[in-house]
Parts: sequence; C-alpha cells; structure tokens
Amino acid sequence: MGLLKSSIGRKFAMALSAFFLMFFLLQHFAINITSIFPDNGATFNKLSHFMGTNGLVQYVMQPILIFGVVFHFVMGFILELKNNSARKVSYAKNNGAANSTWMSRNMIWSGLAILAFVVLHFIDFWFPEINTKFIQGDWSGLHDGELRYFHELQHKFLSPARVAAYVVAFVFLAMHLLHGFNSAFQSVGANNKYTKGLKTFSKIYAIGIPVGFIIIALFHHFNH
Ligand code: HEM
Repeated sequence: MGLLKSSIGRKFAMALSAFFLMFFLLQHFAINITSIFPDNGATFNKLSHFMGTNGLVQYVMQPILIFGVVFHFVMGFILELKNNSARKVSYAKNNGAANSTWMSRNMIWSGLAILAFVVLHFIDFWFPEINTKFIQGDWSGLHDGELRYFHELQHKFLSPARVAAYVVAFVFLAMHLLHGFNSAFQSVGANNKYTKGLKTFSKIYAIGIPVGFIIIALFHHFNH
C-alpha cells in the first residue's frame, strides 16, 4: 500500500488505528463498568451475552478489532525502528526531559507493557471464551442454569497477583494514552484553535479510563 511507504503515511495510519483502539477501549470500559452496578451482575451478564453471541460483533467487529490490535503493535515497532535508524547520530540537543516528555520517549516500553498485559488478558478471558463457543460449541452462555459471565469475571479477580499485574498495566496504559492521544491528533493534523480543547479531552480520557479499569479490578477483588 502506497500510504504505508512514506513516514507521514505510516504516522497517519498509526493514528487511525490508535483512534479505533481508543473507541474500542471506551466501549469495553462502558460494558465492564456495569459489572460494579448493584444488581449482582444482571446488566453485565445481559450485555456480555449480547456481545458474545451477536453475529455482527463476533464475525465482523471482532476480526476487525484483532486486525487493529496487531496492526497497531506491528506499526509501532516499525515506526520505532525507523526513528532510531533515522538518527544514527543522536540529536545534539536530545537531553531528555529538557525537550521531550518521558512518556513520549518511552512509547515503545509502555506499549510493550500493554502488549504483555493483552497476552495475559487473552489467556484470562478471550481464549476460554473462544474455546467454549467455537471449540466446544456452547453458545448458551449458561452455567448451572445462570448466565456465566459475571461469575467468571469475579473469579478472575480473586488472585492478588493478577489484580496487581492488571493495576500496573493500567498505569502503563495511562502513560501510553497521555502521549498517544495528543500525538495521534497531531498526526492527523488536528492542530488548530480546537487544540486546547482536544488536549483537555485527551487528558481526561487518558487518566479517566485506566483509573476506571483499576476501580473495576479492585472492586471485584474486595467485594467477592
Ligand atoms: C478491569 C479491566 C478489564 C476487564 C474486567 C476486562 C474484561 C474482558 C472480558 C470479560 C473479555 C472477554 C470478552 C469476550 O470475548 O467475550 C475481554 C476481552 C478483551 N479485552 Fe478486556 N477487560 C479489561 C481491560 C482491558 C484493557 C485495558 C484492554 C486494552 C488495553 C482490554 C482489551 C481486550 C481485548 C482486545 C479483548 C478481546 C476482545 C474481543 O474480541 O472479545 N481489556 N476483556
């Protein structure tokens, strides 16, 4: 694809995949936050069952999402490698904190921490789900006559080690988003009179969503 051959094209594609993942994360959060509603998981169970069995979600949106996740990681590595080889001789004035933020210089590391989390997260939730539905062929969503999703979620957050790993990953996620959101707006040229508003919005999202995920993990750990 021609677009991906130029440096600007790659940054633009990276930004588009980032926006897509940020939209996914928002809907993922909106569904997961219902698991702390005081209705014993009824809303969360209903939404999870719909998402887990709806044809459009399973066969169209899910493959697009997986493609988006893989694309973002692969493109992130390519951009990092190209950036490094483009400046074999370091910037004379690249003296760290003085002219760039820690977050912006370490996107690859916060990204790798999130990748490690996604692997753990898939082992925890996604692979068992694929196994139940696509290998065992059980699309009922039931266990002992009840929708099973809420109990499975509660069960995962019993382990303090897992909760700690999740919380650390969400802190990395916040750092990644704090730089990533602004950088993505910059790459698509959103650098105008709305910039201040976009920056404020980015900050609220970048801190609010990870903190919300931390609250969900801790809530289930301490309320089982
Ligand atoms: C406390 C926080 C979180 C909880 C409780 C949670 C819960 C879940 C559950 C239950 C699933 C399985 C959905 C299914 O396939 O039926 C899932 C899938 C997934 N989660 Fe999370 N999640 C959390 C945070 C995150 C974060 C921060 C990310 C991204 C950085 C993420 C990325 C994903 C992805 C990519 C999938 C696969 C989506 C799919 O195709 O189903 N999750 N999560």
